Amino acid sequence: MPAYCYFILCDNNAFYTGWTKNIKRRFKQHLHGKGAYYTKVHSPVEVVYWESYGDDKIARKREVQLKKLTHNQKINLSRGRLTNMCDRLYFDKYNYFVNSPGRVNLLGEHVDYNGGPVLPVAIDRSVSLWANRRNDQQFSVNALDMDQNVVLTLNSIESRMDIQGNPLPDWALYPAGVIHIAHKQNYQINGFDSLFKSNIPIGSGLSSSAAIEIAFAALLREFGMWKMDNLQLALLSQEAEQRYVGVNCGIMDQFASANGAANSALYLDTATLQWQILPLPKDVAIVIADSKIKRNLATSEYNERRASCEEALSKLKEFSPSINYLSDVSPQEFAKFGKNLAEIPYKRAKHVIEECQRVKLAAQALKSSNIVEFGKLMKATHASLRDLYEVSIPQIDTLVEIANAHRSCFGSRLTGAGFGGCTVSLVLQESADKFMDDIKRDYYLNTGSEIEVYICKASNGVTVQWRNQTSSLTDGKSPID
Ligand code: GLA
Repeated sequence: MPAYCYFILCDNNAFYTGWTKNIKRRFKQHLHGKGAYYTKVHSPVEVVYWESYGDDKIARKREVQLKKLTHNQKINLSRGRLTNMCDRLYFDKYNYFVNSPGRVNLLGEHVDYNGGPVLPVAIDRSVSLWANRRNDQQFSVNALDMDQNVVLTLNSIESRMDIQGNPLPDWALYPAGVIHIAHKQNYQINGFDSLFKSNIPIGSGLSSSAAIEIAFAALLREFGMWKMDNLQLALLSQEAEQRYVGVNCGIMDQFASANGAANSALYLDTATLQWQILPLPKDVAIVIADSKIKRNLATSEYNERRASCEEALSKLKEFSPSINYLSDVSPQEFAKFGKNLAEIPYKRAKHVIEECQRVKLAAQALKSSNIVEFGKLMKATHASLRDLYEVSIPQIDTLVEIANAHRSCFGSRLTGAGFGGCTVSLVLQESADKFMDDIKRDYYLNTGSEIEVYICKASNGVTVQWRNQTSSLTDGKSPID
């Protein structure tokens, strides 16, 4: 059930900050002097700002942070996120702003479609989406980075066309897919005019596509007032990716983008969809190194890897009928029955089964702040992705070796689906700058190629902000309409 943090401007020009599951009802309570002592004494004028979250636990935490802000920080908050003049300009034109992060996966690779546990982190690289609600079911989407605009209707989306009958460009499949699946599931769909941009590198293993899906799904949820938490939002977006875009992906990326938590990793059991937030130690930096070697998930061997896992599962079921996923197979069982598999399914299943064990150990290590142990597990994961799952490439192996040889690095590995993209390293915070300079230099000396290296901060999941500006409110519907 979505929950909101909000600021109410009071007649003494100060802000009251709170959280609620229903802004409209809550505002009325404040108006009638039944909301809080503060708003009883200082009459509320209007809700001037809100942020939405997938559930009340996160909203409550966020409320604590918001309450600590100074008056000026509160005034600037909505604009504070928007980093440049251009962004401000958009914010003046559009009433809604959605921020949807990419993710880096610390551990648990290629297990999310095998019922295994994963440990992703939402990052401070994101999709920024601005939008105004329309009163019809037409969708205008401007992709600033591509300098392309498409206009869609529900019918055109069904036939994978824009309104003029042109085939959709690849990027447009993500918003179109989300609209399509939500419509098929009978959610109320409102049209919108929108534009978006992203600073998540495309095809690099940081989930740029899931971030677009979640951004549009969150926008549609807001406009349609859907009763849907962020987990369901992620499931809907995953379905869009599978059924409309055509990648048979797991739930990890959409989940992380929707549910990310600041300064924390997420532990998600993809079989039960139970999850928890695991705080990350403050003295450890997450460093991403982008090899700039792109891969395309849809056309790559991703679907093939998944098919091999399914083959392995159905064979193993002959010996152990109670298993539902590869993650249900213990290493002991695999030692017994694995020999019945053909070579490729054997290798893929071995990776999955061992990776599931590593993630469980890693979660324990994180809980006891044992980053040395966590790092060892990351190294083992990379070796397994390279040798058993065969999704690494030589340049990434080189990058990982260089990072793992560095004295300030706890562990480094390929992150995401593989076949190029990025590595993730956990590094001692105080030596992170030196680490980044060193690996850049050493990689260049080894390969003659440049990489991009940066620290990323574990961030919150998707947020929707609404700007209460009376002059342009006529086309906007908000939780307090
Ligand atoms: C891609 C998919 C995820 C997951 C990873 C590999 O990012 O979208 O579901 O399978 O690859 O761990």
